[in-house]
Amino acid sequence: TSNKEKYRPTYHHTPLYGWMNDPNGMFYKDGAWHLYYQHNPYGSKWQNMTWGHSSSTDLVHWTHHPEAIRPDGLGTIFSGNSVIDHDNTAGFGAGEVITLYTSCDKSQVQSLAHSSDNGMTFTKYPGNPVIVTPNEARDPNIFRNSGINKWNLVLAGAMDHEMHIFSSPDLKEWTYESSFGKGYGAQDGVWECPDLFQLDVPGTNEKKWVLLCNLNPGGKFGGSATQYFIGEFDGKKFTSDYAPEDTLWMDFGKDHYATVTWSDAPEGRRTAIGWMSNWQYANEVPTKQFRSANTLPRDLSLFHSPEGKLLLASKPAKELADMRGEARSYGRFSVSQKGRTFRLPDGKGMEIVMDYSLNAKSDVSLTLSNANGDKVIMTIDAKDMTFTMDRTKSGEVSFSRHFPAVTVAPLSKDAPAGTIRIFIDSSSIEAFDSEGRFAMTNLVFPTQPYSTITVKGKGKGKIKKLNAYKIK
Ligand code: FRU
Repeated sequence: TSNKEKYRPTYHHTPLYGWMNDPNGMFYKDGAWHLYYQHNPYGSKWQNMTWGHSSSTDLVHWTHHPEAIRPDGLGTIFSGNSVIDHDNTAGFGAGEVITLYTSCDKSQVQSLAHSSDNGMTFTKYPGNPVIVTPNEARDPNIFRNSGINKWNLVLAGAMDHEMHIFSSPDLKEWTYESSFGKGYGAQDGVWECPDLFQLDVPGTNEKKWVLLCNLNPGGKFGGSATQYFIGEFDGKKFTSDYAPEDTLWMDFGKDHYATVTWSDAPEGRRTAIGWMSNWQYANEVPTKQFRSANTLPRDLSLFHSPEGKLLLASKPAKELADMRGEARSYGRFSVSQKGRTFRLPDGKGMEIVMDYSLNAKSDVSLTLSNANGDKVIMTIDAKDMTFTMDRTKSGEVSFSRHFPAVTVAPLSKDAPAGTIRIFIDSSSIEAFDSEGRFAMTNLVFPTQPYSTITVKGKGKGKIKKLNAYKIK
């Protein structure tokens, strides 16, 4: 079956067959995390957009379900999200799953569907479309705003680089309130897939609003990427705490897009997942019977940088620690220029955890390689305070001129000592600092799995722990 494909991930969500892009309509209900996605059920390139459906009780093992929402007379089914209507405000029943999505034909309009069987099947609302806008706008994001006792909706004004805000008492009649974005942050390409939610400000009783804004092209390393804004929201208007020219990136790799979060996640969690690809080459990556995986799910929170900036942290969801199997420990040693090479566990799925301490002028690089000479070089540089990943020689790279790349993330200034977690799967690498203060997501297509890791560097660096865990 297509599960045998070389680049099929072992612990990331993928469609069983066919093309996938954005994650859609996610909600948590009765113990299950539901995940829908932009799906072409008939082929492995973008077309015939339909909502595929999977669910999981642990964010790691996914069960596939039949297509949830199929194209109709209003068009194909583009991105959107879902809420649980606990108080029956829409009149379809208490606890009904309500979904808004974009119907795309010659123009793009917003439509509603609802489900009384926990999202297995949906009924489309006969009054569709529920929102028609003068300019192209898509990817509705809806949420309950207890502050105003109403629903809010954010819609991406794609070409205008604006997020349009609406409110509604019943999820069907929507009132336009305001727009945010003109001149703010990265302004290239189109703005897509918004998400607006509150997070606690650490060390205070305050909360702040975070607005995710996916944009394509115009990402930090070319093509698609996720930026975010932090500020105030009163149910009508979003105001950024940052100056217009400040651009904040959620992930510092090339393959993190269309990132949105689950509604009603348990324990007050705000959990996100992104599409692990880039529109520059998503249709050309070297897979056959399927295309694209989702990123690992990530728990979001706010943190203060040493300079006092409030920023968004993305940590691998806590469930991922339970996947750690047998560990190889390479020790405690001093970093040398000659370097030390260790054998990685067999197989395609692993997590590498490294505790390090560097002084101000030192660096340490981790090189993953295999017998064919494919390699990925990751460097922590204490001089520049950066984490870099070089995939220019990572394996198959020639399918797109945009693929060979070096991506760079800022390290928190208080991190010349710290912990890095690196998740490797058949065709991806995701790196995080242990607090999620940076995340970097990059696809790689090694001609055979990476089998060794070489650690070397300049200066007086120390590795306090280096473990490679097989993923169970
Ligand atoms: C983002 C996007 C969305 C749209 C969907 C179509 O990747 O372009 O704006 O709804 O993909 O598949």
